[in-house]
Amino acid sequence: MPDIESLLKEKRVFKPDPAAARAANWNRKTVDAHRRLGERDPQRFWAKMAREHVSWFSPWKKVLVWKPPFAKWFVGGKTNVSYNCLDRHLEGEHGWRRNKAAIIWEGEPGDQRVLTFGQLHREVCKFANVLKSQGVKKGDRVAIYMPMIPELAIAMLACTRIGAPHSVVFGGFSAEALRERINDVGAKLVVTADGGYRRGEAYALKPAVDEALRGCKGVESVVMVQRTGQPTNFVAGRDRWWHELMEDASADCKPAKLDAEHPLFVLYTSGSTGKPKGILHTTGGYLTHVTTTSKAIFDLKEDDTYWCTADCGWITGHSYVVYGILANGATTLMYEGVPTHPGPDRFWDIIERHRVSIFYTAPTAIRTFIRLGDEHPKKHDLSSLRLLGTVGEPINPEAWMWYHRVIGGKRCPIVDTWWQTETGGIAITPLPGAVATKPGSATLPFPGIDAEVLGEDGEPVEPPNGGLLVLRKPWPGMLRGIWGDPKRYREQYWSKFPKTYFAGDGAHRDGDGYFWIMGRVDDVMNISGHRIGTMEVESALVSHDEVAEAAVIGRDDEITGTAIVAFVTPKGNATPSDALKVALRNHVTRQIGAIAKPKEIRFTDALPKTRSGKIMRRLLRDIAAGREQVGDTSTLEDYSVLAKLRDSDEG
Ligand code: WTA
Repeated sequence: MPDIESLLKEKRVFKPDPAAARAANWNRKTVDAHRRLGERDPQRFWAKMAREHVSWFSPWKKVLVWKPPFAKWFVGGKTNVSYNCLDRHLEGEHGWRRNKAAIIWEGEPGDQRVLTFGQLHREVCKFANVLKSQGVKKGDRVAIYMPMIPELAIAMLACTRIGAPHSVVFGGFSAEALRERINDVGAKLVVTADGGYRRGEAYALKPAVDEALRGCKGVESVVMVQRTGQPTNFVAGRDRWWHELMEDASADCKPAKLDAEHPLFVLYTSGSTGKPKGILHTTGGYLTHVTTTSKAIFDLKEDDTYWCTADCGWITGHSYVVYGILANGATTLMYEGVPTHPGPDRFWDIIERHRVSIFYTAPTAIRTFIRLGDEHPKKHDLSSLRLLGTVGEPINPEAWMWYHRVIGGKRCPIVDTWWQTETGGIAITPLPGAVATKPGSATLPFPGIDAEVLGEDGEPVEPPNGGLLVLRKPWPGMLRGIWGDPKRYREQYWSKFPKTYFAGDGAHRDGDGYFWIMGRVDDVMNISGHRIGTMEVESALVSHDEVAEAAVIGRDDEITGTAIVAFVTPKGNATPSDALKVALRNHVTRQIGAIAKPKEIRFTDALPKTRSGKIMRRLLRDIAAGREQVGDTSTLEDYSVLAKLRDSDEG
């Protein structure tokens, strides 16, 4: 993580281009007015946004009921997310959007599909009827485990249409991880596919579903999209093909008039314990937050082609591939595969061919592209781009400059957007028409969001000192809880400071009040922009037969931001060997998924611990970063000795 010293040296400032700023959805004047209202009366500000950006079946009675830490927004209001994303673009003032592209999709092998708002509406209505025919009722949970294909967005939208909260599980997660999430959320139905394409090959998804459902009672049916045509196990009475069910489904399905606080989805994310947290989002507030921020931050215009490279298995895919973008009637591009297939220029090729104008990706991807070389983007005409964004982790100023220069041709504003699964939508961000950017800073809170950096004493720290990032007032997209665990919700987010949301990130502000995010302060690692708890990986490791104890830490990595290093004490009868390292990596992949696979495994006789038995992670971090002399790392090491040495050093 960059330290404050090095960030303070960053003096470059990029002012909005005056002409573009004038044309922005939110120009300087609008932003100033919104900021003032947002500070003086955040409820009035958000109510104004909710009226402007969301269509309601019936108005709310109260903007906010806040019984810390439980919030209800737009209480009594009724709306529907799929109605806002689809129906309202087919009728009235915007009815002409019926034949506008809603989703432009490209599969990794190069196959393409375009769904207009009219077609997407039809598919969503049909699948909503399929869900009903499978016994899914309002309030029932649906698990979705799919590749990035249009059916994923269709399934999500269909759930919102009938008020069945979805829980999307990233297709890269293992059967074990899928089972844990299906059970925790109590899913009744699973939507999946036979497989998908990645790195030039068809991979299978369905076997993981079969394994996850073994011994699982709650799930009554599985609906499977045929994506690759690979041979697939089929459980009679439980499994059904998507295309067969869709053939008979009616395209007539009224959107349910749902309460603003009706549960919209549960998305699991890693915390500092071994068990992932089911983050709950609800309907009206979330929709207001993501629709407003999409319009303001990405400056979505009628003729834009917007591409966010996130998978719908993560929050970014929920808020800024599907909901926020479609609710604005904008065209969203979805891509199935990896950035480097069939060549290292796949992304730039997609941008050129589809004339993408807004591009939103993660710093880890940008660092990968820097390494691959400038010749790949330079081969392509990227002149359609007019705005760039990043999300997921701090972006180092040099990567920001490269993005600005090589991809943005020095003309595109960059929005470095800070937010979390828990915040639902973007919370700290530049606004392209109004906020000057500095490479590496997420700049200022979105209007209506009250962000601050606090010291341990709960007082704002004086710039440029570092502290803990908090949000001091409720906001409409905020999580409403952890599924089934109100106690953990309270402890995790609201116990550090009274009535204040603790984000788990470190940050500091500069003299202009700009925020510089410095990464997690808890036991959560950020691997390629994805959150993985150290405890999660440790639990996976110790569940292996030959492991006695394990400690996991993150170390800086040029490409992935953080790389996982595991210190493992094998059981007495086990031999520490390269073969065991391979076995352990595979084991973690099976337990959680490939993203959690340790980059480095180091065997040790004993882990360094304090007298009270706490693992000295700081020492392990030093060792992993090469800050301690430990000699040959291929053999069994005894890091506890180092702890003893250090103890004696510290006297
Ligand atoms: C990190 C992703 C710096 C941060 C939307 C946060 C960032 C975690 C940024 C949430 C950014 C996200 N600059 N750090 N622009 N955006 N983060 O829940 O540590 O997958 O707490 O949500 O990513 O990750 P999550």
